[in-house]
Amino acid sequence: MAYYRINGGKPLEGQVTISGSKNAALAMIPAVILAGEPCIIENLPIIEDVHVLTEILRHVGADIELNDNGCMRIDPTGIDRYEVTFEMASKMRASYYMLGAMLGRYGKASLALPGGCPIGERPINFHIKGMRALGANVEIRNGIVYAEAEKLHGAEIYLDMASVGATINIMLAACRAEGTTVIVNAAKEPHVVDVANFLNMMGARIKGAGTDVIRIKGVSRMHGCSYPVIPDQIEAGTFMIAAVATKGNIVINNIIPTHLEATSAKLMECGARITEGDDGSEFFLQVQGGERLRAIDIKTLPYPGFPTDLQQPMMALLTMAKGNSYVTENIFEDRFNHVPELRRMGANIRVNGRTATIEGVEKLYGANVKATDLRAGAALIVAALAAEGTTIVHDIKYVDRGYEHFEQKLRALGADIERVEE
Ligand code: EPZ
Repeated sequence: MAYYRINGGKPLEGQVTISGSKNAALAMIPAVILAGEPCIIENLPIIEDVHVLTEILRHVGADIELNDNGCMRIDPTGIDRYEVTFEMASKMRASYYMLGAMLGRYGKASLALPGGCPIGERPINFHIKGMRALGANVEIRNGIVYAEAEKLHGAEIYLDMASVGATINIMLAACRAEGTTVIVNAAKEPHVVDVANFLNMMGARIKGAGTDVIRIKGVSRMHGCSYPVIPDQIEAGTFMIAAVATKGNIVINNIIPTHLEATSAKLMECGARITEGDDGSEFFLQVQGGERLRAIDIKTLPYPGFPTDLQQPMMALLTMAKGNSYVTENIFEDRFNHVPELRRMGANIRVNGRTATIEGVEKLYGANVKATDLRAGAALIVAALAAEGTTIVHDIKYVDRGYEHFEQKLRALGADIERVEE
């Protein structure tokens, strides 16, 4: 196990470059199965979840090379197995994309039900509803999803919730179905659009990604391509929040500002100063923290609303704002596991169902805390960077799943952070 030792109270200053989007990458890697030919994916973040997914693809027979600067070559032609075991699926929830990709390409797949996690039960019933609508026979026996289809056909599929995973998984399976599929109440997150663009580069015919209705016209074959992943707006938002929490002043490079509208708006409402610029080739944001921040209300919503993945880091910031803030988590039913850990640092938070009331305190103090999930870990790191004294953040394996070179990037911004392998 590893932990971070962080001496807080130092404003973050300088420049940071954002890595490729984790949640786009975890869908694009299995999507290559549909091409049936080698593909190149560039700007992949070198994070634990990418390594796990690479092992899963290799296990079923794909040939993968990944170099240090995030360029991956995947050759799916050698795939000759169609199951994702419990051991693999339990390591990484997004293994569920193997279902849509395998079903779309081979007409069969079996996947151990990916377990819940510390943010909620996280079922995949919408995914299964979509596969059945496309004509697949899907059964669940002993915790394994068995899916097969002679032929997939187009369908109109309404999603009860704008589920990111279900939207992408149905898109994957529908690419090579006969006829047209319409996904209604589709998720609109930037990574949904990125995956649709990637699939279209392979010859798919997808329209409407980024809106509530996505239309996929099935094609009989697809082909290889080369494609760069978009920047990770959640990583970018995490650095924005850390800069404001430490009263710092940073420039964030390699971002797409429209993906960060909600985060920028809420940080400015708190009293941060955010300016957007471009150097002719790429956009950047300058983020400056003010003096004591103002309390605000946050409600997480599907994109373009405030992202649930930044609820936890944002709450860390709000523990030090002047006044009472109210954070409502509308996406996941159990995404407040960072609260007891923040309380150890002096935060004053009360949770009632899906709403947390945060009574701002002057400052937080260093303590021994532990990460319970990826973004809870990010929240504790934000709090530790701002706190007075030394904080030990245990179980940072969760953080390794989603942030590339996190401690190096933070150190380059002046943070006093050290990774210790226990
Ligand atoms: C994706 O999870 C992301 N993960 C999550 O990021 C992110 O928080 C989430 O989308 C929302 O933006 C990846 O992309 C790998 P959902 P996903 O389906 O697809 C319920 C991170 O920190 N639901 O949009 O699982 C579900 O329980 C991670 O990077 C069903 O009920 O999220 C949740 O309450 C955490 N049945 C809500 O919908 C289903 O079949 C939204 O989930 C599917 C989802």
